[in-house]
Amino acid sequence: MKFYSSTVGRKFLTGLAGILLVGFLVVHLGGNLTLLVSQGLFNSYTHHLESLGIFLYAAEIVLLAIFLAHIVTALMVQLEKRRARPRGYAVNASKGGPSKKTLASRSMIVTGLVLLVFLPIHIWMFKFNQGRPSPSMTHDGKVIRDLYAIVVDAFRNPAIAWGYATVMFLLGFHLRHGFWSALQSMGALNRRLMPLVYALGLVVAILLAGGFIILPLWLHYSGAGM
Ligand code: HEM
Repeated sequence: MKFYSSTVGRKFLTGLAGILLVGFLVVHLGGNLTLLVSQGLFNSYTHHLESLGIFLYAAEIVLLAIFLAHIVTALMVQLEKRRARPRGYAVNASKGGPSKKTLASRSMIVTGLVLLVFLPIHIWMFKFNQGRPSPSMTHDGKVIRDLYAIVVDAFRNPAIAWGYATVMFLLGFHLRHGFWSALQSMGALNRRLMPLVYALGLVVAILLAGGFIILPLWLHYSGAGM
């Protein structure tokens, strides 16, 4: 208990929750990439998810708990840092080696807050179709929710497509520093592994953010669903 009430313990929790969220993003991107294949494939994928019923609700509660743990502990660590050094650094330079001070690391709180604002809007738009009844379609003889139409319709608007692409670019920045920093905070890195994991952080950020950026732009410019 004492461990989790210390800054080191909170950093550990932020990192652990962050790594679990990367796992969610990999699965979420994988599922969303079926949007690029066909309306039927994406809708039957989301229909299968919805048919999990109580198991899907359980997974959503666990996911919400992970998001909350990540956000609350990250904000607490940030506040503790501010309290310890209220004036910030006179010069924002990296000391090299394990310090790894970059634009991505300094902007973690800003990119994190952007994602925090994005998430409820995103879920309201797609999961709840902005409070409107969802359209439906017949697939393999079954009437299922046409989530494809909701997503494609939203991305037809260039402001929404480019707004999403911009937030996904910032997600890439968050992951660029976050992935490496999470493993470091969890004590998983010795000095020899550090450069490797730092490079891996860049690959994870490019693949995930790149995949998420392609979706709105492709759906907008390919005229999908027309
Ligand atoms: C281009 C980018 C994205 C697209 C097209 C997309 C698409 C979707 C869609 C269609 C849903 C509704 C799923 C359903 O009702 O079955 C959804 C839900 C959700 N998305 Fe995304 N998403 C994107 C990016 C993200 C990102 C970056 C995050 C996290 C940082 C995220 C987190 C979530 C969450 C937490 C849910 C609710 C899941 C649930 O309750 O089952 N999404 N997304």
